[in-house]
Amino acid sequence: MTAPDPNKNHGFGIDVGGSGVKGGIVDLDTGQLVGERFKLPTPQPATPEAVAKTIADVVAHFGWTGPLGVTYPGVVTDGVVRTAANVDKSWIGTNASEVYSNALGGQAVTVLNDADAAGLAEERFGAGRDNSGVIVLLTFGTGIGSAVIHNGLLLPNTEFGHIEVDGKEAEHRAASSVKERKAWTYERWTKEVTKVLVAVENAIWPELIIVGGGISRKADKWVPLLTNRTPVVAAALQNTAGIVGAAMAAHGDGTEHASA
Ligand code: BGC
Repeated sequence: MTAPDPNKNHGFGIDVGGSGVKGGIVDLDTGQLVGERFKLPTPQPATPEAVAKTIADVVAHFGWTGPLGVTYPGVVTDGVVRTAANVDKSWIGTNASEVYSNALGGQAVTVLNDADAAGLAEERFGAGRDNSGVIVLLTFGTGIGSAVIHNGLLLPNTEFGHIEVDGKEAEHRAASSVKERKAWTYERWTKEVTKVLVAVENAIWPELIIVGGGISRKADKWVPLLTNRTPVVAAALQNTAGIVGAAMAAHGDGTEHASA
């Protein structure tokens, strides 16, 4: 356990995933975790109240008392959940920020989209750190998440996983869960990913596309097979990006103009 140091520029982030609720103290100057990452299993069923309780347990593990950021795998505006593509629909309309804050005795909680959090962290500290201009991060997992960052500022709640590409929703075409379900080779799956990337780059013309999600650990097997025009690089922060980005958002880093 690492006690927070009030003299340092530290924040706290929690990444809520399908299998784990992971948290850590973040050095906001370097994007590094201060001490270890702590993970508890995602409660089943993952209702807002059950997740709030698990979040409180993760926070208590570190003895953290300041503001914190928490990710959610869907659209979040002003702390309120708007969509639930791959989680229970009962989340829609929930003021997650309030539910989490109540479970933490009133601590301020910023809730933001999971890919937005990863994008903030990758742009500042990871694969996008040497680039300026428009950067798009796409995460490939159960669904496809997206983040758009322009000169360090996040445009929240882009949902490129749900754009229609050749008559099919992007995440139904090219999420890594589709590869698994259909037992596709990387060659086969990458054809679908290319179609999605082409649709995104034609709509927004980013300078760089960062690909994240578990399958980006094997990026050498498939990124070279992509044939879209924008340079594509693998995420660099891997399993800490969500935590780091959530902590950044809680401090307004990269989200000063956003409502999330
Ligand atoms: C959701 C996104 C989310 C992504 C990854 C999509 O289905 O609509 O908001 O970022 O999954 O979790």
